Amino acid sequence: ERVVLAYSGGLDTSVILKWLQQTYQCEVVTFTADLGQGEELEPARRKAEQAGVRPEHIFIDDLREEFVGNYVFPMMRANALYEGLYLLGTSIARPLIAKRQIEIAKMVGADAVSHGATGKGNDQVRFELGYYALAPDIKVIAPWREWDLTSRTRLIEFAEQHQIPVSKDKRGEAPFSTDANILHTSSEGKVLEDPWEEVPDYVFSRTVNPEDAPDQPEIITIDFERGDGVALNGEAMSPATLLAALNDLGRKHGIGRLDLVENRFVGMKSRGMYETPGGTIYHLAHRGIEQLTLDRGAAHLKDELAPRYAELVYNGFWFSPEREMLQAAIDHSQAKVSGTVRLKLYKGGVHVIGRKSPNSLYSEKVVTFEDDQGAYDQRDAAGFIKLNALRLRLLGRRDQT
Ligand code: ARG
Ligand code: SIN
Repeated sequence: ERVVLAYSGGLDTSVILKWLQQTYQCEVVTFTADLGQGEELEPARRKAEQAGVRPEHIFIDDLREEFVGNYVFPMMRANALYEGLYLLGTSIARPLIAKRQIEIAKMVGADAVSHGATGKGNDQVRFELGYYALAPDIKVIAPWREWDLTSRTRLIEFAEQHQIPVSKDKRGEAPFSTDANILHTSSEGKVLEDPWEEVPDYVFSRTVNPEDAPDQPEIITIDFERGDGVALNGEAMSPATLLAALNDLGRKHGIGRLDLVENRFVGMKSRGMYETPGGTIYHLAHRGIEQLTLDRGAAHLKDELAPRYAELVYNGFWFSPEREMLQAAIDHSQAKVSGTVRLKLYKGGVHVIGRKSPNSLYSEKVVTFEDDQGAYDQRDAAGFIKLNALRLRLLGRRDQT
């Protein structure tokens, strides 16, 4: 028996590693992904080695470009927001982790996979729907749903019994639970559980308080090609490099903070705090370039599809035929979404202040309030309105007497 564990190197997954070895008497293979969470990953290798994992069974992969290029950007083409606000930073990372875990399982001949998500959340669903879609007969071990380490105290006791290092701040109650990658940092639990209480300052880790952001606005440009960002201020960048550069700008100007009460797939409401600095800028910039380049019919249909798409990502159905159908339609819509967006960043706000495109459908000649030299015949509007009004007049005659 061999199991591939999604291993962060933190306390919880270190306990899981030991617990799997003990409970299942199995060989544990660890997989640690660099998704741009900004943490050193070599300590994870050391800890895995100390736990007795064979060196050739320790996988540490830099997935940043794949994450942004093949997951974040496709999702941004859809303008996906869960419940109108959440940019899905955690949700979109899970299918990639699942996919790589399954690849490793096949490589090392493992028959099981394991993760550190609890039985109360969305992440368990996302991981496992990914596993089953890609390896229908895989065995899944979710320790949080099985073990009796049901309190923080018991977990720490277990860690100490097994020489797993417990940092000082974990010894008391951990103040809240976080998940981070290049797109966002999310915080949930503990001090955040009362939705009436304002999120304390120390929870924020990657944006300055907008009230303390520079008094000078900053103007930037983002170039898009076929719906994807390709350059910042005229400098060509890979997807992950571009997002990282936007994160720096967002941090400085306090952009992308979100305090949200959301509906989890498993049925409960939860309160979270998200910081999505670069993603917030990117999302608005993408909408800016679509304003010029998408036809109204395509644009409005996209806006109807976006909540459906967001819900699929949130609920863990990335590897599903319906998500792929929507993706194909959305990608098709992006063929002409190229050009440049100019934005102003100022004290927590992102404002599109200019856009231009070789594929623009905007016609100054048609729209102008000055003399349009016959580009548009205002007399046509009379018939247009009259026919649109016909049924309203029939209704009015019937009902207003
Ligand atoms: N509620 C967010 C989601 O479902 C984040 C979940 C993970 N966050 C965490 N702090 N453990 O996508
Ligand atoms: C967890 O329960 O492991 C984190 C929160 C979530 O998945 O929604």
